[in-house]
Amino acid sequence: MIIAIDGPAGAGKSTVSRLLAETLDCLYLDTGAMYRAVAWAIDESFGGDPDNARLASILPTLPLTFAVENAALKIAWRGRVLGDQLRAPAITTAASRLSQLPAVRNFLTGWQRQLAAGRGLVAEGRDMATVVFPNADLKVFLTADLATRAERRRDQWRSQGIDCNPDQIADQIAARDRADRERQVAPLQPAADACLLDTSRLSIEQVVNRLLELLDDKRKSSRHGVQKTEN
Ligand code: DC
Repeated sequence: MIIAIDGPAGAGKSTVSRLLAETLDCLYLDTGAMYRAVAWAIDESFGGDPDNARLASILPTLPLTFAVENAALKIAWRGRVLGDQLRAPAITTAASRLSQLPAVRNFLTGWQRQLAAGRGLVAEGRDMATVVFPNADLKVFLTADLATRAERRRDQWRSQGIDCNPDQIADQIAARDRADRERQVAPLQPAADACLLDTSRLSIEQVVNRLLELLDDKRKSSRHGVQKTEN
């Protein structure tokens, strides 16, 4: 079973996807972390932005690996696990820029499908339902208004001891949204058959419960479909 969850930054995708995967006892695939890892790896090995053609040949040769361990994605560089360093503001900016390039998207789409092979998962990102897993069993597009998303980001930063201005965060999120929506390849948009869910006024538990209900509805309707075809 594949559950594809897409949406803009701060819509609650990561927390909700992680909880949902835990509840369903399946892999949580954070594809944003994979884009961040590519940005980190490029910075580590080149210190600049190689062009698309060069990236297409370089990326498969880097000592960057993706694996599944304990139902979670494990990202490593020369065998060393990458984690918090992927969250640095400079990496966030670089990931957003590099995610525009077809070479990067093709490289990571290949990895994402490989990691998903033969297992159930909750995959979270920007193009899960539209490009990577178009046959997903459940497709969800999470949104929330900009002010709510900026507040959530500020709370996240605060919990890590970093204080920042909500207006500045809102501007940064809006710029990232624009870049994600307007890019040529795999732009951020809901799949035609995605369920849209505005999380602005919902708690995390409410969102997870709503997704479990949607999943249940899907299962019931596909069971009906099978019965109808059998009759
Ligand atoms: O979700 P995030 O903030 O960790 O994602 C980091 C960047 O990667 C973000 O700018 C959008 C991009 N991304 C993408 O283009 N496609 C995905 N499936 C996941 C993330």
